[in-house]
Order: sequence, then structure tokens, then C-alpha cells
Amino acid sequence: MDDSPYGGGPGMVMSVLPLRRAIHALRAASDVQVHVAYLSPQGKTISEQTLPELERHEHLCLLAGRYEGVDERLLVRDVDSEWSLGDFVLSGGEIAAMAVIDALTRRLPGALGDERSASEDSFVDGLLDYPHYTRPEVVDGQAVPPVLLSGNHAEIARWRRQQSLGRTWLRRPDLITLACLDKTDRALLEAFIEALPAGSKGGHS
Ligand SMILES: C[S@@+](CC[C@H](N)C(=O)[O-])C[C@H]1O[C@@H](n2cnc3c(N)ncnc32)[C@H](O)[C@@H]1O
Repeated sequence: MDDSPYGGGPGMVMSVLPLRRAIHALRAASDVQVHVAYLSPQGKTISEQTLPELERHEHLCLLAGRYEGVDERLLVRDVDSEWSLGDFVLSGGEIAAMAVIDALTRRLPGALGDERSASEDSFVDGLLDYPHYTRPEVVDGQAVPPVLLSGNHAEIARWRRQQSLGRTWLRRPDLITLACLDKTDRALLEAFIEALPAGSKGGHS
């Protein structure tokens, strides 16, 4: 499966032929087109926005590399796309492949207990998710925000939207500049920022 690199240097390289034969056998056995995606730090970053590009393929083959990676000639001829978990290097592509499988599977109809969970998750509408709480109502002196116990669904939705906007502004200002905020969102965010204790506005002025 692997051999030393031409030109010298450290590590081993995964050989073309065993992988090419495996991909050809898979393509020959499939009734539909097989899309081969190589997990690689050099690939397009996997995100909630880019996942649909993988999701649309009926038959997806995830190729996990090891060592220094895969012989470039396989990538040129047999691989359709390259995908990265982020700007860091793993020892192998298996964890990245499992992450893709999990992220895609939870998007399938019926995979989650409640379909709304996915539509309210971080990144789906360009913002981070709001904070969540469960029983008990008070734990070690920490109480659940009173609005969540009010039974007022409109107020709860408003508070959650504000939290979502506020924590995106605090933690991921790169996202909040992209998100299209209407007048109501801008007012909610302004009120959130206004209510922050002095010194807790992070890098924001
Ligand atoms: C040690 S890495 C090889 C790194 C390669 N020499 C480079 O610098 O681009 C071994 C394998 O781990 C996987 N891998 C490493 N980092 C990854 C990342 N950020 N996303 C997806 N897969 C990754 C790839 O399949 C890769 O072939």
C-alpha cells in the first residue's frame, strides 16, 4: 500500500495501484456515478455551507490517506474532490471521513429526533446557536434565565435570537459581518451589547 517517496525525504507515500483498483472495482459495481472525495489538509474546508456539495452525490466514496499522503497521480486521475477538516494536520484521514459521515447522516430526513434541531444549529442561518438549559432550574446557585420559564413563546424566541446574535458577535465577528441583519436583529444585537458588563466586549470596541 505504501512506498518511499521519489526524490527522497521523510515518510512513506500511499501507492497508486491498490487504491486505483479499489476505486475502479467500486465504480464497476455501482449503478450510479461514484464521487470519490479525498480527505486532505489541502482540500476545501468542510463547513455547513460546503457540505451540500458532498451531500448531493448519491454514491460517495471517502478516501482516507496516511503517511505523507497519496501518490499525486491517483488524485489527478481518480479523485473528484479534496476536503479538509481545517488548517491542521491529522495522522490519517479516517477521523475526517467519520466526521463527514456523521455530519451528512444527521442531515438525512428522520436521522434526528426532531427535525428542528438541525435547522436551529450553529451556522445554518449564518449565526451560532443560542445557549441551552435543562433541569434542575437552579444548580449550585446558577439559575436558568427566567424568560425560559415564562411560557411566553414569543419572548423566548426573541431572547434566543438575541443570544444567538450576541454570542456570534462576541465569538465569531467574521460571521456576524456576513449575516444579513434586518432592523429587528440589529436592535436586538445593540441591546445585547449595551447590556454587557464593562470589560466583557472582547476585542470589540
Ligand atoms: C500526515 S497527513 C499528510 C499531510 C500531507 N503531507 C500534507 O502536508 O498535506 C496524512 C493523511 O491524513 C489526512 N489528513 C490530515 N490532515 C487532514 C485534514 N486537516 N483534513 C482532512 N484530512 C486530513 C489525509 O488523508 C492525509 O493524507
